[in-house]
Amino acid sequence: CGIVGYVGPRPSQDILIAGLARLEYRGYDSAGIAVIDGNGDLGMRKKAGKLSMLRDSLADAPLGDGTTGIGHTRWATHGGPTDVNAHPHLADDDKLAVIHNGIIENFSALREELLASGVEFRSETDTEVAAALLGREYAKSGNLQDAFQNVVNRLEGAFTLLAMHEDHPGLVVGARRNSPLVIGLGEGENFLGSDVAAFVEHTRKALAIGQDQIVSITPSEVTVTDFSGSPVEAEPFDVSWDAAAAEKGGWSSFMAKEVAEQPQAVANTILGRVHDGQVVIPELDGLDELFIGINRVIITACGTASYAALVGKYAIEQWARVATDVELAHEFRYRDPVIGDDTLVISISQSGETMDTLMAVKYARERGARTLSICNTQGATIPRESDAVVYTHAGPEVAVASTKAFSAQITALLLLGLHMGRVRQTLTDDSAVAELADLPDKIASVLEKENDHVAQLAGWMADTRSVLFLGRHVGYPIALEGALKLKEISYIHAEGFAAGELKHGPIALIEPGQPVFVIVPSPRHSALIHSKVVSNIQEIRARGARVIVIAEEGDAAVLPFADEVIHIPLAGPMFEPVLAVVPLQIFAMALATAKGLDVDQPRNLAKSVTVE
Ligand code: G6P
Repeated sequence: CGIVGYVGPRPSQDILIAGLARLEYRGYDSAGIAVIDGNGDLGMRKKAGKLSMLRDSLADAPLGDGTTGIGHTRWATHGGPTDVNAHPHLADDDKLAVIHNGIIENFSALREELLASGVEFRSETDTEVAAALLGREYAKSGNLQDAFQNVVNRLEGAFTLLAMHEDHPGLVVGARRNSPLVIGLGEGENFLGSDVAAFVEHTRKALAIGQDQIVSITPSEVTVTDFSGSPVEAEPFDVSWDAAAAEKGGWSSFMAKEVAEQPQAVANTILGRVHDGQVVIPELDGLDELFIGINRVIITACGTASYAALVGKYAIEQWARVATDVELAHEFRYRDPVIGDDTLVISISQSGETMDTLMAVKYARERGARTLSICNTQGATIPRESDAVVYTHAGPEVAVASTKAFSAQITALLLLGLHMGRVRQTLTDDSAVAELADLPDKIASVLEKENDHVAQLAGWMADTRSVLFLGRHVGYPIALEGALKLKEISYIHAEGFAAGELKHGPIALIEPGQPVFVIVPSPRHSALIHSKVVSNIQEIRARGARVIVIAEEGDAAVLPFADEVIHIPLAGPMFEPVLAVVPLQIFAMALATAKGLDVDQPRNLAKSVTVE
């Protein structure tokens, strides 16, 4: 879910709606705002459906010019996406409004307690329970901050909670435990947001708040305490994203824009990290001993980030010669992994807020492992919970389906592998470092040469019911990512396989006309791997598959067996994934568009899943 809060001199309604628009990627099944006007009256509006439903309703009947407000865009957990279950939730005779992101785990017990004391609930949500509890506490003292502090201490689970009361115009209180919240510092006005996108058009000065902290904002003051009320210092930072970077500009979708931004995203991620022909990541200064001492790396992530992790496994093993495994964060966390102080756990997360990944990082730390995160969002929780962080500088990614963050994640992993290889003295050949600089131009060339061709292919395949993707070596994670992109935005059944696995089962799926993408590695790197993939192509071709090959320019061996060939420029083996994924992103996007679907906001998904 996305959260925004405002106090200041300006009417808050439009500021809240603009903030929610930038946070809509965090969930979009319902949205709502509450504002307190000059007379101290609290008004609230909430609507099921995308933000545009709420916006239309406010256009018909605005909530007024109240200058204190909170807003929420929801990804349903407790209770379906209805008007009633949307946030804000009210209490204390509708004078108090609360919004929430996360899951309150002890909500049934609290609900029972409140029901027994005569409270009536309108919704099925855990949030309304928190609101009712706050209403009851507030009635005792009339002090919103004290009441809020008492309430958050009774809640278990993960939450960011914001509240305001019409007796206190000009005050918004918030708390965070395991869910994101950042403060935006303006002139005579202050903001709260799930991430900086919520307020970046108004201010680039921000404060990061830690776990289990409470914040109060007024137009002129920001106070941060821990859950027991003792003051704490919040950490100031400047937001490097500019507001324009999170705008769609002239593009048909955010996803189209973000796919096109990949050369820049990769270039920015490399910037400042190559010195005198060697990769030196300044943020990792002082960690040489750690890199030399480790015996094992585990990379943990979810979704697209987990496929970047798989590419990282190949690169780190090859260059830094340390055993590397990839584990989905939600699986890693719930077993008893063999880890200790000789283990480096690398987490990858675009948002830095994915709850499954966050919990894996905390778990790894508790078990004595060292932690390093690769993240795209400043001030996010996962980097704050890690010993070290390497930021991807992809800029804000708004479309739910990840594209430029993925190529930037792979780039960061390549840099990390090269950095560790240098430190561990296992890197025997510097050619990969030299190649980094060419990567952005090569991505640009795929975009330029293949965009129309791939889009046309997708247009022909709009009625396809299933698409398969095959890859070997670092092409395997790209097959998985190609399938995920298609599932996410076009709702077509898609599966990615390791090409060698085909004959062990999946080949039974092949029937005449079945489209199969095959990512072919360069024969220059390994004639053996290349020839194996060419054999796999022949096997499926013989059974009638329609074969679409992604191969390097000049690879003549694939031509006789391919129905279509998509070319990528010549590149080192570890660099091919960043190039091969681009046509698959374009394909998914074009197919979803041909089916008339919303490319940026696919059904049932949220970009940042902050619940486990
Ligand atoms: C969600 C999104 C995916 C994303 C995954 C990990 O499931 O829908 O697109 O890959 O989270 O997100 P993260 O922010 O941790 O990279």
